Amino acid sequence: MRFASALSIVPESTEAADGTDDVPVLPKRLLVVDDEDSIRTALSRFLSSRGFDVENAASGQAALRLLGRERFTVMLCDVRMPGMTGLDVLHQALADDPDLAVVMLTAVNDAVTATEALAGGAFDYLVKPVELNQLEGALERALHKRTLVLEQRRVEHLIRDEVAVRTRELEHEQAALRSLTVSVAETLINAMEAKSIYLRGHSQRVAELASSIADGMSLDADTVEAVRMAGHLHDVGKIGIREEVLNKPGKLTPEEFAHVKDHVRIGMEILAPLQHLGVVLDYIHDHHEHVDGSGYPRGLAGSAISLGGRILCAADTFDALTSRRAYRDPMSPRETVDYLAKSVGQLLDPTVYDVLRRVVLRRKTLVFIDDTPA
Ligand SMILES: [Fe+2]
Repeated sequence: MRFASALSIVPESTEAADGTDDVPVLPKRLLVVDDEDSIRTALSRFLSSRGFDVENAASGQAALRLLGRERFTVMLCDVRMPGMTGLDVLHQALADDPDLAVVMLTAVNDAVTATEALAGGAFDYLVKPVELNQLEGALERALHKRTLVLEQRRVEHLIRDEVAVRTRELEHEQAALRSLTVSVAETLINAMEAKSIYLRGHSQRVAELASSIADGMSLDADTVEAVRMAGHLHDVGKIGIREEVLNKPGKLTPEEFAHVKDHVRIGMEILAPLQHLGVVLDYIHDHHEHVDGSGYPRGLAGSAISLGGRILCAADTFDALTSRRAYRDPMSPRETVDYLAKSVGQLLDPTVYDVLRRVVLRRKTLVFIDDTPA
């Protein structure tokens, strides 16, 4: 190598070569890799005098051994060395420590090698002879660039962590909002049901029976919960129905029945701002649809009716028949499921009916056991 003659000391400066003295100063732990003793010694002396904490390596293998033992922030590496080349050292060193800033130094101005070095992760590529102030500037720029890369990575981590935390918070807030929404709606429903002896406790019973059917159909936990919520809220639209119609002891006139049917539309309007309820809204919309298409409000048939809607319809009908009316006594659970068998395929979905029957008869058994004196 014919490099020593090109070395020249430049006036000392306290400022970074690129004027970026506001960048946090990193430990200037520098590894100089060059197979020529005189170059290593001259570079080490000069860069030590410029505040770098310098170690030397006379070969690529020696450099990698040192890098394996100690942590460096920057490496100044010759390209042409016997045995392992500077490019091999660059690739291996960065594979082991991606944060290492590397500046390559070569006696031959070779565009292909320069491109390969820069593409391989070197921050700079200097051609000898190089003035010492340029060399120092290149090392400072490499350190500065490394700082920016590390800072960018740190910020990206912070942003990722922040996004994860905010996402979890939002999920909790959404869950709290859902719960609050249901509580408010339930309060309204309870207030409404309290005014009608025929409606009292209806939504609570429908919610329990419908969720038992959903569970009996082995639907997933989220769907079972959505069915339960829809059961609680399904008749919220009855708030908009005239009290004398809701409490009318006898049969309704066609006009009154049309008015009652409007509770589905009113309910959907009340709940429309609560789009986060998702499928719960579909279930409520469908709770008066019949599988043969004769229901309301849309006259949907079969699987066009949401499964939750079909379940609600069965639970709602069962509860109506087992509740007292001014013009009839309540039917027993067994009488009701036997009676409803005739409506399978017209009013009720066959699968939903089978599970309703199973749930009701099992419940009856449990009630019987519970009622047995100890
Ligand atoms: Fe209803």
